Amino acid sequence: MKSVIIYASTHHGNTKKLVDAIASECEIEVVDATKVKEKDLKEYDLIGFASGIFYTKFAAPVLGFAGVNLPVDKDVFFIATAGNTNKGNFKSIEAITNEKKCKVVGRFQCKGFDTYGPMKLIGGINKNRPNEEDIKAAVDFYKGIIDGSV
Ligand SMILES: Cc1cc2nc3c(=O)[nH]c(=O)nc-3n(C[C@H](O)[C@H](O)[C@H](O)COP(=O)(O)O)c2cc1C
Repeated sequence: MKSVIIYASTHHGNTKKLVDAIASECEIEVVDATKVKEKDLKEYDLIGFASGIFYTKFAAPVLGFAGVNLPVDKDVFFIATAGNTNKGNFKSIEAITNEKKCKVVGRFQCKGFDTYGPMKLIGGINKNRPNEEDIKAAVDFYKGIIDGSV
C-alpha cells in the first residue's frame, strides 16, 4: 500500500510532532504543503491531510494542496491539532474530499499548544500538547487504518 500524508504545521509545530512520529514508525511519505504545491497523487492508495486549525479551518496550504492535487475516488484520512477539539474542525477539508468523491477512512484530533490572540496573555492554552499519549494515539490511529480496524 502506498500512502502519503500532506501537512502544514506553522503555529508551534504541534501537528508535525504527530506526523513525524507516524513517519518514523510506519512506511508513509510526508509532504509539507507550505513548501510543495503540486504533486501527482494518482499512485497513492491512501492520502492523509494533517493540520492545525485556523479560524475553524485546516491551514490554507493544506486546503489548497487538496483542491489542486487530490484525485477522485481515493481513501483519505484527517489529523488535526487544535485549541479546541470540536467535530467541526474537519469540515473545511471534508468539503474538498467530498467534492472529489473520496472516502474518509479516519479522523483524529488532539489538543495543541495555542498562543493565538488573548491566549498569549495567559501564556497559552494546552501547554505541552500534543504529549506522549497524544502522539502514541496518533500513531495507533494510523496503524489502525492500515490494519483496517478503524
Ligand atoms: C491564527 C490562529 C487561529 C487559530 N484558530 C483556531 C480555531 O479556530 N480553533 C481552534 O481550535 N484552534 C485555533 N488555533 C489554535 C491552533 O489550531 C493550534 O495551536 C494548533 O495545534 C496549531 O498547530 P500547528 O502548531 O501544527 O500549526 C488558532 C491558532 C492561530 C495561530
